[in-house]
Amino acid sequence: MARILTGIQSSGNNGEVHLGNILGAIKPGIELSEKEENEAFFFIADLHSLTTVKDAEVRKRNVYAVAAAWLAFGFDTKKNVFYRQSDVPEVCELTWYLNCYTPYPMLANAHSFKDKSDNLSDVNAGLFDYPVLMACDILLYDAEFVPVGKDQKQHLEMTRDIASSFNHQNGETFVLPEPLIDERVMVIPGTDGRKMSKSYDNYINIFLPDKKLRKVIMRIETDSTPMEEPKNPDSCNVFALYKLLANDDQIAEMRKNYEGGNYGYGHAKQALYELIVDIFKSERENYWRLMENTDEIDRLLKEGAEKARKVAQPVLQKVRNKLGYN
Ligand code: ADP
Ligand code: TRP
Repeated sequence: MARILTGIQSSGNNGEVHLGNILGAIKPGIELSEKEENEAFFFIADLHSLTTVKDAEVRKRNVYAVAAAWLAFGFDTKKNVFYRQSDVPEVCELTWYLNCYTPYPMLANAHSFKDKSDNLSDVNAGLFDYPVLMACDILLYDAEFVPVGKDQKQHLEMTRDIASSFNHQNGETFVLPEPLIDERVMVIPGTDGRKMSKSYDNYINIFLPDKKLRKVIMRIETDSTPMEEPKNPDSCNVFALYKLLANDDQIAEMRKNYEGGNYGYGHAKQALYELIVDIFKSERENYWRLMENTDEIDRLLKEGAEKARKVAQPVLQKVRNKLGYN
């Protein structure tokens, strides 16, 4: 059994989960978790989000939205462990211990810190210490594999460095985790053709109610080729998204429509809208049901945290023993 672990970001100001997150993170994550040989520890990183989100209600809502999306897509919380980072306070204690094994320059030179400290007005110590908390998220559970995006590679290297240095000084304690970086990751384009992202406001939240969802899809940017003229599907943002979701026959038909003329972008957008509503019917319904029953989300996350703490506590105890805090 391989233990795979990853933290799911819950930052941002509106808790929306978009098609890029679904195709780029949720679906591949669920696929990994379904393999018999894997046991997945997936948690919502709501302590990390305190570095940037100060409003408690916003942070809570974000956790629910993210959890509801994973659950709506069928993440199996019985086979795996699904929890909220802040429900396992052991991680904060370990963070203090490992802070004292982390060289200051390692954190000062981290790309993500440099980037954030150049761009954010609130440059707090939490932002600086972010990689140590992340290392503890991983080391506290003896995780072996950590699926992450390329941007997190340096954080994984730091985790291994911190763990090795602790092991070296105190004897074998932590498992050294391996990153699982999918080099083929698809970049899902947004409504303006750039990478879909909350930061560009070009995203499609498939969980919006029908009318609002349709409005977002109608806003996809297209060129001004008149309705009657043939169009190039391969340079069109609507077709790019349709292609990611439709079956081969549907794709071939839309391609024919584009190339044949007398088919407007409005028609293509309507087809994309209908396809999304159709293929994500049950996921959208599950999501709405969960968002109206946040008690159920809380119950599932608490159950997950109990399972997680059973694994975390002995690891933390081992560290306390080594450091003479027993
Ligand atoms: P955003 O850019 O909207 O803030 P996040 O950085 O919170 O998104 O991404 C959360 C997860 O979703 C990450 O694992 C990331 O790789 C994935 N993801 C986000 N946007 C895309 C996209 N456009 N295409 C593929 N995967 C994406
Ligand atoms: N920093 C990660 C991100 O921005 C989220 C995260 C927090 C994480 N703790 C983690 C990822 C532990 C993997 C393992 O996406």
